[in-house]
Amino acid sequence: MRYLVTGAAGFIGSHLTETLVAGGHEVVAVDSFTDYYDPALKEENAAAFEVSRLDLADEDLALDGFDGVFHLAGQPGVRSFGTVFGEYVRRNLLATQRVFESAARARVRVVFASSSSIYGDAERYPTSEDAQPSPISPYGITKLACEQLAYAYAKSFGLEAVVLRYFTVYGPRQRPDMAFARIVDALARGAPFELYGDGLQSRSFTYVADVVAATAAAMDANPGVYNVGGGAEATMRDAIATLEQVSGRTLELVEKPAAAGDVRRTAADTRRIESELGWRAGTSVEDGLRAQWEWASVRVAAP
Ligand code: UGA
Repeated sequence: MRYLVTGAAGFIGSHLTETLVAGGHEVVAVDSFTDYYDPALKEENAAAFEVSRLDLADEDLALDGFDGVFHLAGQPGVRSFGTVFGEYVRRNLLATQRVFESAARARVRVVFASSSSIYGDAERYPTSEDAQPSPISPYGITKLACEQLAYAYAKSFGLEAVVLRYFTVYGPRQRPDMAFARIVDALARGAPFELYGDGLQSRSFTYVADVVAATAAAMDANPGVYNVGGGAEATMRDAIATLEQVSGRTLELVEKPAAAGDVRRTAADTRRIESELGWRAGTSVEDGLRAQWEWASVRVAAP
């Protein structure tokens, strides 16, 4: 098959691109290399494949001849209040509208990377796809708006869109602003880690290889919305204890106030994706964190 991957030099996009290529697919990889974090890290993520620089908010995608688009590009991070909001509107909403427009015109299927943050402090746990969305971060609001655009394009132009709500994805190459990336870096360097809030906030943390398997399989799914979440929920304090144990080190914690936009809890109900795609997260938090620690400690030790 011939696929286009957006955000291909990012954390999840780079793993997905490598997996699709290894599976014998032809992949056109694009990324805008924004400065949200060091573009050199993205160059490193994409070292194994060709990636073209393209800003989806400005440039059209030529999609004729493709079998599908994995649209993973976006402005990430839930701590997104203030003057940065315009970037979220541009890089999530505007860019995605243009991708859907091109895909609908070319009659190409889209798998869209949405987020558990559309649920906000959810009305029930574990949270199924039909729970009332009530995002509490500007980021979550833009992702929810993108989902609604997918619905509008499906209704009006027959767009086939599969929406995946990823739950806090982690593993090697995790975005450097995310909690585990900061923790493994702090452990490897003997530096402090700033913990926001009481550390009892919890997540359905989801290992990146599991997310990639769900994403690749979603290209053949019935159009609709699916949670992609790890099986076991953990608090930040649980995860820190596990990382201390796998690294054999002690983390220096600096306690900070809770961050605006952060939800207290996420817990994925994954029955829909299990029954439709036979997908289930297979990696335990301990195994996933060990892999992330090994990756980060080797990198920090490298000259
Ligand atoms: C993550 C991603 O950053 C979002 O892009 C994604 O859409 C979202 O998951 C999702 O699942 O929808 P988040 O759960 O906040 O968001 O992931 P982390 O950045 O890894 O934060 C996890 C927890 O650690 C949060 O409670 C956060 O407040 C805390 N944290 C984060 C710290 O205590 N210190 C830090 O330096 C960073």
